[in-house]
Amino acid sequence: MGDADNADYKESNIEIFDTVDEVKATAIVLAAGKGSRMHSDIPKQFMTLGDYPVLYYSLKAFQDSPVDDIILVTGEDYVEYCRNDIVDRYNITKVRKIVTGGAERYDSVHNGLIAADGAKYVLIHDGARPCITQKIITDSIDAVKIYSACTVGVPVKDTIKIVDEDQMGVDTPDRSRLWQVQTPQSFNRELLLTCYDGLAHDKCQVITDDTMIVERYSSVRTKVIMGAYENLKITTPEDLKIASNFLKKDVDTKMVK
Ligand code: CTP
Ligand code: MG
Repeated sequence: MGDADNADYKESNIEIFDTVDEVKATAIVLAAGKGSRMHSDIPKQFMTLGDYPVLYYSLKAFQDSPVDDIILVTGEDYVEYCRNDIVDRYNITKVRKIVTGGAERYDSVHNGLIAADGAKYVLIHDGARPCITQKIITDSIDAVKIYSACTVGVPVKDTIKIVDEDQMGVDTPDRSRLWQVQTPQSFNRELLLTCYDGLAHDKCQVITDDTMIVERYSSVRTKVIMGAYENLKITTPEDLKIASNFLKKDVDTKMVK
């Protein structure tokens, strides 16, 4: 998109969605999943990574960032645990509300969105991504102010293959156009709420992230900005080991002599 187009685009988005006076950014941190692919007794966001629960790291990152406040979304059975053993214990004072999630990720996002009243922008983040950085957060805030809908992501490193039901290759998309999407995904809150209304009338879709919802239920184009390969989502047991290494930051790039 050229600069001139970009300016027009920015202008039109502001015209449609700039109805909240306060320029407030709220992080919605999702921690209501069951973590079925982790096969552990407790949800992965509460497993221990280094000295802290996985969820602590992203809450602490938002606490130390320019966001105004945080909505934490978790399972009914974990609200007290989150309040006492994470939020209060580690003094995460920006947590304004802890609300319960729903059966699907998008149900949890929706509950968080409703709770984030007064926010102009929302940054939706997986509590299972502990390696989020300050740069990712500030870049997301800068981008959402321009585009109204954006996600962080990284260019894919491997070739991606589309296969059929017999696992036979049917296509190999151009890798230079493929990005792996991460969180935070950041939106003008009113825009995303409107798109969720569209989703409510059309629940047969397979929805895996929120930029998809904006792409399907509005004409607003979503921007993809650079995240970080370190910003992985803890999904399966080996991811804990990888994240633990990233968080230690003790890699030395010098040659051993
Ligand atoms: N999440 C949520 N509510 C749900 C499902 C997911 O808040 N109903 C959150 C998870 O806690 C996680 C993030 O969304 O922080 C990303 O989801 P995912 O990695 O799929 O986590 P789970 O759904 O918990 O894991 P799995 O899909 O393996 O069951
Ligand atoms: Mg899931």
